[in-house]
Amino acid sequence: MSGLTVLVTQPIHDEAVAAMRAAGAEVRCLNSPRPLDGAELASAGRGCHALVTLLTDTVDRQVLTGNPALRLVANVAVGYDNIDLAAAREAGVLVTNTPGVLTDATADLAMALLLGCARRLTEADRMVRDGDFPTWTLLQEPMGLDVTGRTLGIVGMGRIGAAVARRARHGFGMPIVYTSRREQPAEAAGLDARRVELEELLAEADFVSLHTPLSPDTHHLIDERALRLMKPTAVLINTGRGPLVDEAALARALAAGWIAGAGLDVFEFEPRVGPELLACRQRVVLAPHIGSATDSTRRRMSGLAAGSVIALARGEQPVNRVV
Ligand code: GLV
Repeated sequence: MSGLTVLVTQPIHDEAVAAMRAAGAEVRCLNSPRPLDGAELASAGRGCHALVTLLTDTVDRQVLTGNPALRLVANVAVGYDNIDLAAAREAGVLVTNTPGVLTDATADLAMALLLGCARRLTEADRMVRDGDFPTWTLLQEPMGLDVTGRTLGIVGMGRIGAAVARRARHGFGMPIVYTSRREQPAEAAGLDARRVELEELLAEADFVSLHTPLSPDTHHLIDERALRLMKPTAVLINTGRGPLVDEAALARALAAGWIAGAGLDVFEFEPRVGPELLACRQRVVLAPHIGSATDSTRRRMSGLAAGSVIALARGEQPVNRVV
């Protein structure tokens, strides 16, 4: 498609912008220092053929149906819960994401959170920095939880869930139970893993790691009832999306000891984190949505999104289509 006009909402890598320009696209980099809401994006993207958005931008109905020129939204993320897919379908707008390239980085972070919670690493770090270095004793704090040989529950056996399971199974000898909408997900091959219902997983697992996409069906998948089903010694890990978990219920669960800890990279009302959750410190490790945040991973994400735009410019079908 000649004369393609592209709006890039927030900063992406220079080489991705250069590649789109080299393919003949006119690229407008808004370089917004913050996410755009629907009204802002509809206005900024007026007349553009493609939008390159981040997961924090709101790509709603007004964005998708109010611009007859719009052909493509290339979201620089594997998740796409920030996009109204029904409106995209209605408007005939293609939507692409960036799967695969962030699988390992995100799985690494899930394991870091799991280990950090189990061995209370952030608490231990704080003690040393505060000059509170206890004499070595058998009963010393912070006392941790075992990881090796304990059961890991993977909620959602997609690419990232399977990458976490592989690390846990082959690196730490952890038996794996998992949930999946598919009966025999190919990703589970070679893991000696058992597919179970969510309730069984919650009751059995020592660590529960969330990897299912956010949708109306999975909103608050982990609510008070689910948390009460978990073992009091179990730890919840979330590197998926914040609203999978009812955060108020999680804060109650941690404060009351229904579960032992939580490692969270995503939050229900991101970037706001509620004071009740912040007050929970024991076996709680919090990170600011950095699952894919390694330099090479983020460059590859930008590159994939640019690739979608370049395909459109060449009149080809973009890969990684969601719609
Ligand atoms: C990160 O959360 C992503 O969806 O890529």
